[in-house]
Amino acid sequence: MSTRKKQDSRISLEDLITTSNRVSDVIESVRGTMLAPDARKRAPTFTTNQVASICALEKAQMDYRIKKGDLPLGYMEPGHRRKLTLSDTRIWAKSERSKSLRPKNAEAITITVANFKGGVTKTTTAVTLAQGLSLRGHNVLVIDTDPQGSMTTLFGMLPDVDVSDEQTILGLCYGSELSIDYAISPTYWDGIDIVPANLALYAAEFALPSRQKQESNFEFWNVLNNAIDTARTKYDVIILDTSPSLSYLTINALLAADGLIMPLPPSTLDFTSSGQFWNLFNDLTGNLVTKRGKTKTFDFVDVLLARVDANDASSSVVREWITAAYANMVLPVEIPKTSLTASASAEFGTVYDTDPSTINSRTYRRAFDAYERVVELVEEQIQTAWKRQIEEQMLSARKRQIGETNVA
Ligand SMILES: Nc1ncnc2c1ncn2[C@@H]1O[C@H](COP(=O)(O)OP(=O)(O)O)[C@@H](O)[C@H]1O
Ligand SMILES: [Mg+2]
Repeated sequence: MSTRKKQDSRISLEDLITTSNRVSDVIESVRGTMLAPDARKRAPTFTTNQVASICALEKAQMDYRIKKGDLPLGYMEPGHRRKLTLSDTRIWAKSERSKSLRPKNAEAITITVANFKGGVTKTTTAVTLAQGLSLRGHNVLVIDTDPQGSMTTLFGMLPDVDVSDEQTILGLCYGSELSIDYAISPTYWDGIDIVPANLALYAAEFALPSRQKQESNFEFWNVLNNAIDTARTKYDVIILDTSPSLSYLTINALLAADGLIMPLPPSTLDFTSSGQFWNLFNDLTGNLVTKRGKTKTFDFVDVLLARVDANDASSSVVREWITAAYANMVLPVEIPKTSLTASASAEFGTVYDTDPSTINSRTYRRAFDAYERVVELVEEQIQTAWKRQIEEQMLSARKRQIGETNVA
């Protein structure tokens, strides 16, 4: 008789608790081996070629700037290769790319990565974008609104071990906090701060509707939008990762955004479910915004072809559907499906965390170049949005002036 067979082979709730504890133990130990020896993530370092590429400097210009010596020079590795830390690299980016950075009177642009489907690379996209933008000199705040905390995990924090409920956006949902400032933590990556998530965030799905019933003038969909106002003056870009559902938190993330990015793998099911996303989205904004006589505009809405499998014949057909449906919302770049991105994620990292010398460089290059292009395209849209903000400010200042002249 098999030892596995118990008198009663059904699984009790207690059995599931035991299993759940075992999963937590395994995750902890996996992190211990992956991120050994200190079980904390470390930011990459950069060669002068990489720094030159980030700053768009020719080799001669780079050599000249190094000779001049007014920017951090990094350190020499054995073999006489100069290496710069992430924070030094960002000092270079800020100095050499000053024209591409946030203008003085502009505010952070908020970008929400969303799609009701799981596994479409929302979290990977959000983290990679944050890293790419910070490497270009921007100060980024990332906010994890998914109780599953995948983004939190990619930043090297285990949601159930390292994150307390007070560090999440839950306080905003209960109304005990009004500004997100209380929940901001630094990350291992210079230039990216995080508001992490953990499982307790599910409580928001009860707290928000219950407050909607009890509090007059409460707008459950604007909690996050209002709470990040203070952060909008401190950061250049705010990136929100969402859960694969139309939750109260996802609605908050969508309505707080200036720009939306929807990663979309070219498969039939993913394409049709993206249609459902927009149906629900339109119903929702109709009820919450339009019917209340308000409006909401986005600076950009991007569809990002993700996890594109070059060997899959059917994907090219679906790609045509996507282009026909989303037209110029489709970003002119495709993220290839690579085992690299899959395995890098298993090590709690993205292409920007991976040292190119440790892997098949052609696969790495393809994925890396595609993400760099995404970052470039998104940065251009951010810059356009900043221009729009400044123009609006000038316009309203002029209107005020005219008003004052008329009164006088
Ligand atoms: N370009 C890619 N090619 C192959 N797998 C990828 C790629 N990008 C991400 N993945 C993997 O796909 C899975 C889902 O990605 P994730 O970003 O967590 O999606 P979501 O947040 O939409 O659920 C993860 O295991 C991730 O490592
Ligand atoms: Mg995710």
